[in-house]
Amino acid sequence: MTDSWVNSAERIGADLHLELSGPGGRRAALTRALREAVRSGRLAPDTRLPPYRSLAADLGVARNTVADAYAELVAEGWLTARQGSGTRVAAGVTPPPGGRRRDAPVPVPEKPASRARGPRHDLRQGTPDVSSFPRAAWLASYRRALQQASNEAFGPGDPAGRIELREALAEYLARARGVRAEPGRIVICSGFAHALRLLLPQVLRGPLAVESYGLGFHRELLAAASVRTVPLPLDEDGAQVCGLGRERAVLLTPAHQFPTGGPLHAERRAAVIDWARARDGVILEDDYDGEFRYDRRPVGALQGLDAERVVHIGSVSKSLSPALRLGWMVLPERYVDAVLDVKGEREAWASALEQLALADFIDSGSYDRHVRRMRQRYRGRRDRLVAALAERAPHVAVTGIAAGLHAVLRLPPGTEGPTVREAARRGVALDGLAGFRHPEAVTSAPDGLVVGYATPAEHAYGAALEALCGALPPG
Ligand SMILES: Cc1ncc(COP(=O)(O)O)c(C=O)c1O
Repeated sequence: MTDSWVNSAERIGADLHLELSGPGGRRAALTRALREAVRSGRLAPDTRLPPYRSLAADLGVARNTVADAYAELVAEGWLTARQGSGTRVAAGVTPPPGGRRRDAPVPVPEKPASRARGPRHDLRQGTPDVSSFPRAAWLASYRRALQQASNEAFGPGDPAGRIELREALAEYLARARGVRAEPGRIVICSGFAHALRLLLPQVLRGPLAVESYGLGFHRELLAAASVRTVPLPLDEDGAQVCGLGRERAVLLTPAHQFPTGGPLHAERRAAVIDWARARDGVILEDDYDGEFRYDRRPVGALQGLDAERVVHIGSVSKSLSPALRLGWMVLPERYVDAVLDVKGEREAWASALEQLALADFIDSGSYDRHVRRMRQRYRGRRDRLVAALAERAPHVAVTGIAAGLHAVLRLPPGTEGPTVREAARRGVALDGLAGFRHPEAVTSAPDGLVVGYATPAEHAYGAALEALCGALPPG
């Protein structure tokens, strides 16, 4: 068995890892390995393969072995061989002459044009206006971070994350969200979902109480890890935390219930802290869009009430971009080591350079400026949504609008599904409330639509609103 890097940069433009293993001798192994490299995309179409002699030398096989393997793959349609241009990966999927062999390339069906392009009007919740990503300011922070980073930053990092970022976050979270955060209790992760995964083995060992409406993706992640979730009913004051029973942990969105939209009432905030103290319980606070508040007074983080009972979790997915994959946990002292053990020695998720850039972005004031700018923009969008509904569909109530990047439109009973379908017919992508319901929830919210008003680019928002209003049921 040979396991080798084909280090032929100037011949094929890249290193290629080929593992020669399995039955049938070296020629069969090489044919399989090359086929697999093309099939998986590691060898891109039109890539020129090394000459027989070079590859044979790199792999320690006979020249004829390579020649035979190439010839077989040319016959199957994976490769092409032309005088003067060598052997290359076929540009498209070319079924071999005489019909497709069992393991020959499978033609990839074209995506329907509409799916390939995405919906015409994207009003799904979950994404900020990515066209407003502050490219220039981020680039400036990245450049400064790179220039100022010590050499040690380019080596293996601390599993807790870069100290520069933890210090910047400690100051920012205390100032903007009322979190009690010392850098030593902050662990950087790649976002909320990663935080949940890190908490699973040590913190979330029993059943977990959750709000009866929430993100299905998070429920699935927990179910896949065999964590049973127990839904807590919701009302206009948020989750009914008085229903907490034998669970030792509860996951809440206290600043802005996801997706219905209200804050957890002050009495319930106090009650859930009392519950955690009495039962040695822990509260996971998902502060996914806490920065975006419009009309009502800021709702500080629940963690500020008891830093030893609440794990505060945030990320830049709503404030900056979900593509950065940067988030944080502010942990009770007693969980820090356990979480770091789960994370392991290698910082596998969040790039240290990205962390340094975010630290600079926060320290230089760019983060605050960006959040303020986006808050104003989203408030404007929210107002336009409310105004459009008042004019075109006054019978449709809109709720959950005091904060966040989405609103809930209340619909007459039985109209949610048909409205989502009618919207789709008009090119509008959005979700019905039912899709967020915990399958074991004892109560159901009235019919409704969750409208993400942050998602479209600024220039596309008016047309999206127009299309949405056209899809709503008549009054
Ligand atoms: C309810 C909720 N929690 C958390 C997040 C953040 O997820 P992540 O940090 O994994 O991107 C989102 C989406 O942005 C969300 O909708």
